Amino acid sequence: MLEGKNIILGITGGIAAYKMTSLTRLLVKEGASVKIIMSPEAVQFVSPLVLSTLSNNEVLIHLHENNQWNNHIELATWADLMIIAPATANTIAKAAHGLSDSLLLATFLSKKSNILFVPAMDEDMWLNPITQQNIDILKSFHHDILPVGEGFLASGIEGKGRMLEPEEILLYIKEHYGRSKSLSSKKILITAGPTQESIDPVRFISNHSSGKMGVALAEVCYENGAEVTLILGPTDVKPIYKGIEVVSVITAEEMKITCDEYFKDTNILFMAAAVADYKPMTRSSQKIKKKDEELELKLCKNDDILKGLGLKKKEDQVIIGFALESENEIENALSKLKSKNLDFIVLNSLKDEGAGFGYETNQVTLINKKGDKFPSDLLSKKEIAKFILSHLFF
Ligand code: PMT
Repeated sequence: MLEGKNIILGITGGIAAYKMTSLTRLLVKEGASVKIIMSPEAVQFVSPLVLSTLSNNEVLIHLHENNQWNNHIELATWADLMIIAPATANTIAKAAHGLSDSLLLATFLSKKSNILFVPAMDEDMWLNPITQQNIDILKSFHHDILPVGEGFLASGIEGKGRMLEPEEILLYIKEHYGRSKSLSSKKILITAGPTQESIDPVRFISNHSSGKMGVALAEVCYENGAEVTLILGPTDVKPIYKGIEVVSVITAEEMKITCDEYFKDTNILFMAAAVADYKPMTRSSQKIKKKDEELELKLCKNDDILKGLGLKKKEDQVIIGFALESENEIENALSKLKSKNLDFIVLNSLKDEGAGFGYETNQVTLINKKGDKFPSDLLSKKEIAKFILSHLFF
């Protein structure tokens, strides 16, 4: 997700500096080009040799090295993003007041935007009003400051001041600097997961949908710049990005009400939820007692949410339905595509091993209105989401 991005990682002298080996590896794995600048103190905490090996670039430390000037202006211009991590109280103070007594600070001062500080220090230093004022100064220049974590600190005490973990830093970078703009003008609505239809206060009818497919779609649409709302049935699976709006629902009726509310302002709808077709006719207010050998449960039909939205669809809206079939797959999917007025349908066959409910992987056939079929391989659900988007938009 960071392919083509040039990133400077500025490492200052704190114990958390050793974690920058992991962050470097994660950034490179995401496709970024990484150049590392260390403060002279940081080399006491982590080896430049390890960092240069992981980043595939020479690590720079001083303004002058081997009778040569390290051009901080060129470095600042090259970088799409400069991360200062760990950012010590000392570096934060110098940055806030415009000191430039190191290559790292000179590069910071030469760069106008896209600078991310990841503070790490002891609790007393973090809570000191001087540090907090310095943080406010940096914020006032629109620099990004990540919060500190809580826990064991190098000094032995427990408290605020821990640097966030490399995975958390990476997630923030991906969300704030890594999104492409290919779907940036689109509002996308996605449904995912099962619905639950109550029988009594302790029992319900549902299905095995985990929500993973819809959540993967939401993440990939968001990574491509779309504004994403996810209407999510009961599941523990959640999108990793904070910027995805999640509306939790339980029943098919709640899902319908929420879909109706959002659909008006939606450009593209993906209906990946496994909505219960039927619900109990009545819900007992008390737990049903075990009595007879047999218990008859009367069910009534839930509204078909997708069919209702298909009827309301405007010309500039696109609807993608899903179909989970166990027999006559193509025929059934095509009939759903027509009867629900869809633009595309994503067919899941119960016959495919490793595909459908609950798995981390999926295998689908995307079908358009003309009946053209695009079969995928068995891939992770995130890759399937990319496969679907690539056939729809790119
Ligand atoms: O959640 P996972 O574990 O990752 O699994 C993903 C999935 C297999 C659930 C998903 O890929 C999928 O196939 N979802 C649709 C399953 C389904 O309910 O298919 P269906 O053939 O019953 O419904 C067809 C379409 O109508 C679906 O888009 C469904 O959301 C919609 N529908 C169905 C019934 C109803 N009352 N209202 C609806 O809107």
